[in-house]
Amino acid sequence: MADLRVQVDGLELPNPFVIGSGPPGTNANVINKAFEEGWGAVIAKTISLEADKVQNVAPRYARMRATDSREVIGWENIELISDRPFETWLDEFKQVKDAHPDGILIASIMEEYRKDAWVEIVERCQEVGVDAFELNFSCPHGLPERKMGAAMGQEPGIVSEVCGWVSQAATIPVWAKMTPNITHIEDPARAALDAGCEGIAAINTILSVMGVDLNTLRPEPTVEGYTVPGGYSCKAVRPIALRMVMELATMMYGGNSGQLIPKKLDATPPPERKTERVDPAHVSPVGTFDDETPSGHYMDRSLSAIGGVETGDDAAEFLLMGASTIQVCTGVMIHGYGLVKTMCEQLSAFMDKHGFKTIDEFRGHSLQYFTTHAELVRRQADIKAAEKAAKAGMVTQDKTWDGEKFVEQSDKLVAND
Ligand SMILES: Cc1cc2nc3c(=O)[nH]c(=O)nc-3n(C[C@H](O)[C@H](O)[C@H](O)COP(=O)(O)O)c2cc1C
Repeated sequence: MADLRVQVDGLELPNPFVIGSGPPGTNANVINKAFEEGWGAVIAKTISLEADKVQNVAPRYARMRATDSREVIGWENIELISDRPFETWLDEFKQVKDAHPDGILIASIMEEYRKDAWVEIVERCQEVGVDAFELNFSCPHGLPERKMGAAMGQEPGIVSEVCGWVSQAATIPVWAKMTPNITHIEDPARAALDAGCEGIAAINTILSVMGVDLNTLRPEPTVEGYTVPGGYSCKAVRPIALRMVMELATMMYGGNSGQLIPKKLDATPPPERKTERVDPAHVSPVGTFDDETPSGHYMDRSLSAIGGVETGDDAAEFLLMGASTIQVCTGVMIHGYGLVKTMCEQLSAFMDKHGFKTIDEFRGHSLQYFTTHAELVRRQADIKAAEKAAKAGMVTQDKTWDGEKFVEQSDKLVAND
């Protein structure tokens, strides 16, 4: 078995697999189950100070299935954040940490646009021993009506302000979870990193309408005949998540999305960290290219990838895009908590096949193969020209001159006979 351990923002995880915020981390019972099955970390369901303002409906899910196999490939939800009282959560965080002192427990938090609320939720959660925070700037439904979730995450100015409040109050690492419902995901991410967050998590769900029932003519999921657009997740979102994680990683290395990432990036030092929560000795670079370590603006920060992961191979793809950890939410709702064992075996098999001993050996490796479309055209034209020349027996490289065919080769290069 390859070494799957990950060190991220000073946290030591036995493997990169993290329960993503949602139903699989919705109370102490299920969080304990996740640790017992071997998950590398658990991000609890998002909590807020005033749970009585959160009112869920049922049904609140709708699924997309493949036509023949009936496999679930897409999942829409209109679920809100946790409707359980904040005090109950504090008790349960404590219970979980007592039962699993080595388990990495991350609190996902969300509040209204008020400094005192964010500072209070941070201070009270860290008092009971959680290991890190994930700031939910990304829930696409329900909460935006209170200017929370994605409504905040779509405004880099607000992200910057809130991350600044949290960074000042937090004594443990902070990740900011991004919404994919935005044109340039790098903008709020950069705002969060500049304000002092240790890491970025992406993506949350994609705003969607699952479909319309052709008998009742009502859109799904129907609640008393009506619906709202919801968040799309599961296998079907993976290509979009991969693209956004690639864009984030590229930004963190100091390049621009769609441009070739230079092997040696400019050595501009990263912006000064506002806090020193993480010992620099415990920070590993976001990724390594063939023989050089890049030195982008945010190479000392971390990236947690989310979106449609159900296998070790899916995870490997996100690690190759520069992620340090891999979150899974819907996959656990379909396959159960035991999924982590299969994913670890599959990831280990991928690493053995390539001779990778640790995850750091290949993290971010595939980012170097993104370039511009114009560059693809140029590369293809160069290869075609070389093939044509070789077919016609023309020398295009000095090393192919041949003493026996020297005159013949010279003749073929003449243009005006
Ligand atoms: C039913 C459901 C509830 C969710 N609730 C939350 C939540 O409370 N907080 C949050 O940050 N993300 C929430 N998410 C989003 C997931 O954490 C994740 O970002 C998204 O579903 C994509 O990953 P996946 O394809 O592995 O599910 C929820 C997702 C689902 C399916």
